[in-house]
Amino acid sequence: MAFEKIASLEDLWEGDMDTFETSDGTEVLVAVADGGEVKAYQAMCPHQQILLSEGTFEDGIITCRAHLWTFECKTGVGINPATSCLAEYPIEIRGEDIYVNVEGIEPIMAPA
Ligand code: FES
Repeated sequence: MAFEKIASLEDLWEGDMDTFETSDGTEVLVAVADGGEVKAYQAMCPHQQILLSEGTFEDGIITCRAHLWTFECKTGVGINPATSCLAEYPIEIRGEDIYVNVEGIEPIMAPA
């Protein structure tokens, strides 16, 4: 699978995040970081697979609603716990459209 359109820049303002789905059913968290940088990560929290878009996104930090794990939006690196992180998908901005490529990238899950 190659890059495919998943959303439009009109769908998200700076500081917004939401879940979008690719044609193969992969759920992707798309977030617009401070400065307008668009990032795409696994949609599910690595802890217990809650949709991260159901949490909060403030000051560049994504917080899961379930047990408050936090992630840095610009990198996907875990803040609490620092050992966690999100799988990132490559994106391309083409005009007003956001393209993502999920091929070969598996979501990261915390050890049980
Ligand atoms: Fe996200 Fe537990 S499921 S912190």
